[in-house]
Amino acid sequence: MKTEQHECSSCMEQKIKEEFATRFGGEGIFYASAGRINLIGEHTDYNGGFVFPGAIDKIIEAEIRPNGTDHVRVFSIDINESAEFGLNEEDAPTQSWARYIFGVCRETIKRGGKVEGFDAVFAGNVPLGAGLSSSAALESCFAYAVNDLFNDNKIDKFELARIGQSTEHNYCGVNCGIMDQFASVFGKKDCLMRLDCRSMEFEYFPFKLDGYKLVLVDSRVKHELADSPYNKRRQSCERVAAKLGIETLRDASMDDLIAIKDQISEEDYMRAEYVIGEKQRVLDVCDALGRGDYATVGERMYQTHAGMSKLYEVSCEELDFLNDLAKECGVTGSRIMGGGFGGCTINLVKDDLYDSFTATAVKKFNEKYGHEPKIIPVVISDGARRLS
Ligand code: GLA
Repeated sequence: MKTEQHECSSCMEQKIKEEFATRFGGEGIFYASAGRINLIGEHTDYNGGFVFPGAIDKIIEAEIRPNGTDHVRVFSIDINESAEFGLNEEDAPTQSWARYIFGVCRETIKRGGKVEGFDAVFAGNVPLGAGLSSSAALESCFAYAVNDLFNDNKIDKFELARIGQSTEHNYCGVNCGIMDQFASVFGKKDCLMRLDCRSMEFEYFPFKLDGYKLVLVDSRVKHELADSPYNKRRQSCERVAAKLGIETLRDASMDDLIAIKDQISEEDYMRAEYVIGEKQRVLDVCDALGRGDYATVGERMYQTHAGMSKLYEVSCEELDFLNDLAKECGVTGSRIMGGGFGGCTINLVKDDLYDSFTATAVKKFNEKYGHEPKIIPVVISDGARRLS
């Protein structure tokens, strides 16, 4: 499906306003939510481990107004398509993008929340399929709006994140963890968040790099998590945990894993080995950041990439190429980010290397794969919010 995204937020907002007025007349309330990065801690969320994400300045924005009926009418500017659906389980729309909004409404209702019909127009500048969680941004934008418009904001923020996560599980076929929706709902300007996905305790970490920058290199290789090996990775982890008699791999050590090596498949062993290593790397990175020890942060990022590529097997040729390239250029840390199977690398680069690294990545990647990757500077921003 062809999609067209607006780069600048004010052009996006203007376009939404015009489209809303043309389709529905008058105006509604504006809401937004954000995509996310994750510094480290990949595929640890559904294993009860730690993650270290932050919301970014790439957002989904929607203008919404109750319409006094029991139907939702919504138009996606980027996809140039409209959808209309009722709020009962059997009313699920066929378009995959509309199922995210339908799912949010249904999951709110299932939790005893109120949802009435509304009209909406939305657009976004979160690159699609880049591993930046455009779907979580869409879910949390509408979850936030439905809470504000129909529930006096009585649904707490953790529940809003869970509404998005359950939408993925029950309406979109992705058995994801809580990281993306959490980051999108709780995101705060200039802060990363270390979340313990077992207790759901979290801490804001003011994010300030001294002499370094974070940059994403988007390979533009699209990934699709529904029906992808993502769910299979999760099943591997659950099988190993069950074998160990524990709820999640959060409670497993390498020694525990070695002890059952001959009772599980080689593949499940590799998956669990990665997860157990990654769990510790998040904690190492948080400590190292606190000391300003960027060398350790970077080292752990490379280790994560190697684990995701060789043990968890969620990388791809293009991302391994970008990772090697980063290493050759002397970049401090680099790794595939997000669920995998395409998308982007996240890179910790010294200020004075930034220009030459990004230029080299664009040139060499283009020479090899015939298209330029997209360079996306990371700006840590606010998560779900009402704009007007
Ligand atoms: C996707 C999922 C998240 C998480 C990451 C991998 O983004 O939605 O829950 O599992 O992959 O860390």
